[in-house]
Formats: sequence, C-alpha cells, structure tokens
Amino acid sequence: MATIIVVGTQWGDEGKGKIIDILSERADIVARFQGGNNAGHTVITKEGEFTFHLIPSGILHPGVKCVIGSGVVIDPGALIEEIDELEAKGINFSGRFFISDRAHITMPYHKILDKVIDAKRGKGKIGTTGRGIGTTYMDKTARVGIRVCDFLDSEVLREKLKIGLEEKNDLFRRLDSNHHLDCDSVMEKSVEYARKMKPYVVNTSRMTNEAIDNGENVLLEGAQGTLLDVDFGTYPYVTSSHPISGGACTGLGIGPTRIDMVIGVVKAYTTRVGGGPFPTELANELGDRLRNAGPIGEYGRTTGRPRRCGWFDAVVVRQSAIINGLNCIAVTRLDILDKFSNIKVCTGYRYKGKILDEFPPLLKVVESCEPVYEELSGWGEDTSRVKDFKDLPSNARRYLKRISDLVKTEICMVSTGPDREQTIILEDVWRP
Ligand code: IMO
Ligand code: MG
Repeated sequence: MATIIVVGTQWGDEGKGKIIDILSERADIVARFQGGNNAGHTVITKEGEFTFHLIPSGILHPGVKCVIGSGVVIDPGALIEEIDELEAKGINFSGRFFISDRAHITMPYHKILDKVIDAKRGKGKIGTTGRGIGTTYMDKTARVGIRVCDFLDSEVLREKLKIGLEEKNDLFRRLDSNHHLDCDSVMEKSVEYARKMKPYVVNTSRMTNEAIDNGENVLLEGAQGTLLDVDFGTYPYVTSSHPISGGACTGLGIGPTRIDMVIGVVKAYTTRVGGGPFPTELANELGDRLRNAGPIGEYGRTTGRPRRCGWFDAVVVRQSAIINGLNCIAVTRLDILDKFSNIKVCTGYRYKGKILDEFPPLLKVVESCEPVYEELSGWGEDTSRVKDFKDLPSNARRYLKRISDLVKTEICMVSTGPDREQTIILEDVWRP
C-alpha cells in the first residue's frame, strides 16, 4: 500500500498520462489535484487512443476509482462531453467516479475573459489554452468563485450568478469586447449540467483519506509541469495552479504526512507550448526533427499547437527534483532520440560570464542566459522494443545515467514509445 504523487518536471506534456496509466494497473484510486481541461493526456491501449483533459486516465482500468479533487477547476460542459465520449467507448463511470463538492466551476464568462485578456497582452501574451483556467482561479482567490456545491444548489447559483454577471458584463464592456451574458440562459444550461454532475459529487477529501486509512493504493495525478507552477514556474508564463507535489495536499485535502513517494515525469528532451522563456529551445531544423520524430508528434493535445522543442535541460529538472522532493524519475520518449547521432544536454546557464546552476526568477536574466551544453553520442538504434534496461544500447544507458546524475535522482521507469508495452520498469514503486 502506498500514496504516490506523479508530477510533471518540465513545462507539461512530459507523458504523465502514459505513466499514470501504467501505475493505475495496481492503484485503487487515481485522483487529479489541480488544473482543469487545459491538460491533455494521451493514453494508447489495444482499444485505441484516448485523450483525457479532466478525467484521470485511471478510468481505463475498470476496478479503479477516479477522483477530481477540490484543487481542480471544472468546466461542466467539457466534463460531461468527456464522460459521454468515454461512456460511448464502453467505459463505466457509475460508482467509481467522484467529483469534489468544493472544486471551482469554470463558467462561460471565464472562458471569454481568458481569451480577451490574453489577446490584449499583445506581444507579451501567455498563449493560454483559452479554457478559462486562469480566470476561474482568479475568481477563486478573489472569493467570488462558484464551487460545485454552489453550482448544484440553483438558489445559491442564481444569487452568485446575478452578482457575478453584473461584474463580468461590465468588464466585457470595459475590455471592448462585444460579449454579454444573460443570467437566465446561463442558468438554464447550468441547471442541466448540474443535474448530470450531481450523482458523482462527494466530499473527496474524506474519501481519499479513508482510502489511505484502509491501506489502498492511492495515485495522485498532477497536470501541467513544475515550470508552469504559479509560484515556481517561469512567472508570468505559467498556469494559475500548483502542479508541484505540494499541490497534491492542498488540492485534495490530505496531509503531507500521508504521502509515501513522489515520482517526476521527465521527457528525454524538452518541450513547451505557449509563450515564455525556454533556454534550450531549438527554433531550427533540429527542433523540427524532435517535433516529428515519433509516432505521435509534438503537437498540443488540447489546442493542436506545435510544441516548441529543445534539448534536455538539467537546470530545469534539477530544480524540479528539489521543489517536488522527487524520489525517482520516469523518463519518457527516449525513442525520439534514437536517430540523433549527437545529443546535447544543458548542464548550466552562462550569464555575464558566470555559470548559473539554478533557474533565475527574473525573466530578463533568463532571456540573456546562454545554455552550457555537454554533448553525448547517440545510439542510432531502435529502442522502442526494448523490455529490459540492460538491453538498451550502451549509449542510451549512458545518456540516462547522465540525466539521472545531473538531476541527482534515480530512474524508476523508462518509456520508449506510446504503448503500454513500451515501458521499462527499474523499480516497483508500489512495493508489494
Ligand atoms: P498537460 O497536463 C503544456 C500552458 C499553456 C500556456 C500556459 C498557461 O498536458 O501537461 P492556461 O490555459 O493553463 O492558463 O495556460 O500553460 N499549459 C500547458 N502546457 N501542457 C499542459 O498540460 C498545459 N496546460 C497549460 O500553453 O503556456
Ligand atoms: Mg499534455
């Protein structure tokens, strides 16, 4: 029995969905603790390809219970659409899917405002997913948000909506946008969504704590990545939640004393989607090669945008290892590097003649940093069918060992392709 957190260590899209799916095989509960449908997690099984935005990918394993914790923001329309699509593929939700009564709801105005505000930023735009994530969290911290429990009570909802819409419609006018939302029509849609959500709503904090008390295997699933954390990421080019391991406790209502292990998912190179600094970015033909080398290209699962690609950045992942208190790392997409004859790894940043070994908080500094690279020889062999660590080409093992040394964290899993079978297990993290 164990409680394990899985987090992204870079800028998201590290392959968390696949790692969660593998670990879910022996989990009793899988719980999401932050973010919303800005996430896009892909899992490939014999039944086909699945993309998850809000629902934990554990749902693919019939015996596993799935939880959306209080730290998540929920767009009810998007959630119901996702449930409907998965049900149509034969996945059963009843009795095994739970939504926190305290999670905040993304309302139609949050989505409009997200897009309008980001467009107004012009050159400095964050490039958000436009899903209303930041604006929902803004209302949450401003204490004017609508929680799931509010949403289910039409009297409370109407009251909150009346006040909220007055403010939001006024804001639309001031931002020169032509939008106007009418209370009755928002109410009508909301009541319909609330009716569909109601059977799943519980106190998920209590439920998760009881599962831990009962010795169940609990997996806590982070979305996004550490460098997108609102406190520790490349602010302001971040998301508005806490994708770091600490976010699992606040986003689910469980104490830090209950966590047994933290696994960081690490892509064998680096990607980022949206604006913001990215020291090892390859805005050239090499970056294009990284983007298109694999069976699944580096294109955003939520917005379809091409991801920016670059070499592995040990400064980023080392910092993540510290902030998250990582016990081990799961390295993904190793196979993408199969055809590169030379592979670079960034070990530090050069700034005004000095070497920095940590990610500077001031973006102006990050932008004028030059990555210091170490070059390793490629392996030029197909790793996508390797089952055992010792059977990897020696240069691939050397590459993994170098990453592990640089980030001072052991490797527990290596993924060499999108399929479940394409996974090398070095450590049984559930410890039978
Ligand atoms: P998964 O879970 C990669 C990025 C957006 C944008 C910034 C803020 O698949 O790893 P937001 O809509 O959250 O306010 O956008 O964060 N972003 C992600 N990038 N993977 C994700 O999720 C992301 N979710 C948000 O591109 O730069
Ligand atoms: Mg993704």
